[in-house]
Amino acid sequence: MISQSEMPLAVLGAARLVPLVTIERLDHAVPLAQALVEGGLPVMEVALRTPAAAQAIGEIQRHVPHAVPIAGNVLTPHDLSIAAHAGAPMAVSPVATSALLEAAAHGSLPFMPGVATPSELMLAVTQGFHVVKFFPAMAFGGPEALRAMYAPFPHVRFVPTGGTREAELDAWFALPNVAAVGGSWLAPIDEVRRGDWGAIRDRARAVVARLPK
Ligand code: 3PG
Repeated sequence: MISQSEMPLAVLGAARLVPLVTIERLDHAVPLAQALVEGGLPVMEVALRTPAAAQAIGEIQRHVPHAVPIAGNVLTPHDLSIAAHAGAPMAVSPVATSALLEAAAHGSLPFMPGVATPSELMLAVTQGFHVVKFFPAMAFGGPEALRAMYAPFPHVRFVPTGGTREAELDAWFALPNVAAVGGSWLAPIDEVRRGDWGAIRDRARAVVARLPK
């Protein structure tokens, strides 16, 4: 049994790529998750940005075997409880406020805070979170920023998200402190709106096949 604090690294490290999905229509949840699972990307971040998101997490949990729908865009302790009630196996945030870190540290849902700077990272580490989202990754320095973070924080693992693209995947995965890379480009909103599940599945397959070993 994986403990609450070990889960983010176990799940994300195995996934390596985490599509960020925005689900506007509840009936898109299951086919979208199925397409990603079939494409080799079972772990997805379902952004709590739409009215359908929380219910979508439950639908995916119930109907798509092997899918791991992490609740994303968790900004407040209230969002964290929405994620837990939705049945999400884990929650992810782009921020590391003290209110959110404390709520997550006292709760039972595995959690990954978001940081962009060394001081934000220290706040997260102080609360016991050693696996963090690096957001917005490209705007805050891209792979070079995490290369620099390795010396002072060798025990921290990052999931860069925000402006990532396929072109930089080799550079991210060459770093010893990258657990996985996240991004919405793996499930573009226009393809989701069109219900083009084949395009999403095929891109996922192609990108997974090209991942550095
Ligand atoms: C996030 O919340 O992590 C970002 O919106 C994802 O960024 P991207 O759209 O640039 O991939």
